[in-house]
Amino acid sequence: KINIKTKVKKFKTAKNLYGIFFEDINRAGDGGLYPEMLRNRTFEDSLAPIDCMTDEGDYAIITPAGWRDEFNHGEGLSRWVRQNQIPYTPIPAWYGEGAQMELERTDTLNTCRSAALSVSFEKGGCIYNTGYCGIPQKAGKSSVFYMFAKSEKPVELLVTIEEESDILSSASFQVCGNGYIRYDGIFTSLKDTRNARLVITAREGGKIKLGFISLMPADTYNGHGLRIDLVEKLRELHPRFLRFPGGCIVEGFTPLTAMRFRNTVGPVWERPGHLLMWHYRSYIGLGFHEYLQLCEDLDLEPLYVFNCGMTCQARCSVLMEDKELDDMIQDTLDAIEYAIGPEDSKWGSLRAKMGHPSPFKMNFMEIGNENSGTGYEERYELCYHTIREKYPHIKFIANTHVEEKGLAADIVDEHFYNTAEYFAENIHFYDNYDRKGPEIFVGEFAVVRGYAGQHYAALGEADFLIGLERNQDVVTLASYAPLFENVNYNAWFPNLIRFHNSESFAIPTYYTWKMFGQNRGDYVVESNEETGTLYRPVKGMASLRGASGMRYRNARWNGMEVGVTHELMGRVRAQEDSYMIEAPDEEQLEECKRLYGIDPEKIFAVFGEEDVTEGTFEIEIFAEAGK
Ligand code: AHR
Repeated sequence: KINIKTKVKKFKTAKNLYGIFFEDINRAGDGGLYPEMLRNRTFEDSLAPIDCMTDEGDYAIITPAGWRDEFNHGEGLSRWVRQNQIPYTPIPAWYGEGAQMELERTDTLNTCRSAALSVSFEKGGCIYNTGYCGIPQKAGKSSVFYMFAKSEKPVELLVTIEEESDILSSASFQVCGNGYIRYDGIFTSLKDTRNARLVITAREGGKIKLGFISLMPADTYNGHGLRIDLVEKLRELHPRFLRFPGGCIVEGFTPLTAMRFRNTVGPVWERPGHLLMWHYRSYIGLGFHEYLQLCEDLDLEPLYVFNCGMTCQARCSVLMEDKELDDMIQDTLDAIEYAIGPEDSKWGSLRAKMGHPSPFKMNFMEIGNENSGTGYEERYELCYHTIREKYPHIKFIANTHVEEKGLAADIVDEHFYNTAEYFAENIHFYDNYDRKGPEIFVGEFAVVRGYAGQHYAALGEADFLIGLERNQDVVTLASYAPLFENVNYNAWFPNLIRFHNSESFAIPTYYTWKMFGQNRGDYVVESNEETGTLYRPVKGMASLRGASGMRYRNARWNGMEVGVTHELMGRVRAQEDSYMIEAPDEEQLEECKRLYGIDPEKIFAVFGEEDVTEGTFEIEIFAEAGK
């Protein structure tokens, strides 16, 4: 039983408590939120970053096995590997029939591109791209196509979107010119499929170079280039902020694979690709501008995580110094100018050119991701003061409790990846937190073990969220991680929203966050719980709040000892129409049975601290889930 004293207002709710954290992991960006349909549109997928190589052209930096394997395929075409797939199987994106393909490393479209595709077609020969496990098309809907190509002699190309032998749409181009020229086309599909391919055929044969190629849906969210169903799923969460662009990808394995704002703006074909920490290359169609635009479209506070001059702590932490460090900090200052600088400033004018003359917002920034130690603290302090001097309104988020080292911190980001039981047991985690210290941002949290991705996990997470709700005078921001997963390219589990090239769905946790996001009050009011409550499990959907198998090892069900591990208890809970009761003493247990009219036969467990009998015991469980 919960007593709520609506008149006793403890404090105001935190306006921005629930948000989302986007990181390009599990192919969340290209082929996902950024719905490019062609894989390896820059032909650079298989290229290793230069600082991953020794003078002999081998790999210098310790990279995870997945990377080594990927690069071992040399300069092949788009050899993407699934991190969790053993043995690694490279899957090419480009195939040829009656055509020879070669990577061109010098005659590229521009200095930002490090490869082009040189193709020699026989008469009637073709190359094709299979996209992200097929190219999705909808009858009557259009896709926007363009390519930059060159050819010394005129070459007639027929570009088709096909499913097996059906041609769904087509366009013809005559490629001719010594320099790269852009060719545009609109393809309107004759039928629905998620398994088409894009085919480029040279009727009479010939030789061309492709510098960049793209096929995007004509319909995107607000016309701003992002996939509609996925953005809608985000909108339905009622988030208040977007943490972006990572995560580990912000820091990279090496200085060269660290994120830089400057590489993520301007025309997409002029954005250098980025070899991400999560074992694939992003073409950065989803760049700084697109993130800010998404924030505006969903009325979110942008929360930009920037590299503070070091690479990922968990991989091969490299500390940047001197010029390299100054350049990193300047990159962040440039990013802020792009977001909120005047229209006539250097970066503000690029924003205007990209279609957004008025400033976006930038009120929250995180200095690094999951970093710690002296190297971090030095860089944190430098960034904090340098940026604050120019932009005093910005709230800065630290990765660790730097205030304990005497440094200024507005907010501290805490991450939790654990079990459902951990989250349930830690419902009171923030109850006694220091109210005089920095605010807390629970920037990443998720059940990753046990019942990860299942309803049980969602209930454990919901408990933790209740803890955040009750403590939102100190915890002012929270987000789940990771947000997206293309089901065909999984690198992490679980993820909030899953999709393939044309449909999306969500895990139970999504609905928990949605419920919390939708139901925001104005004040946190006084409440307390009375023990002697009832827990009634529903088939496959119940959770024991505060449960850890060990704690309840002597729980009994129909005279049998159960709950030796939480897995076993999970099975027991799947029984329909049976009850778990927690009550502090006999009297309350009886009261509980009477109140709810429980048939004693159907009581499968009575819980207490250690030895669970029907005697007197301490109670750790307070309420039925969802009530
Ligand atoms: O959410 C996945 C990863 O977990 C993030 O990149 C990182 O910040 C954390 O370690």
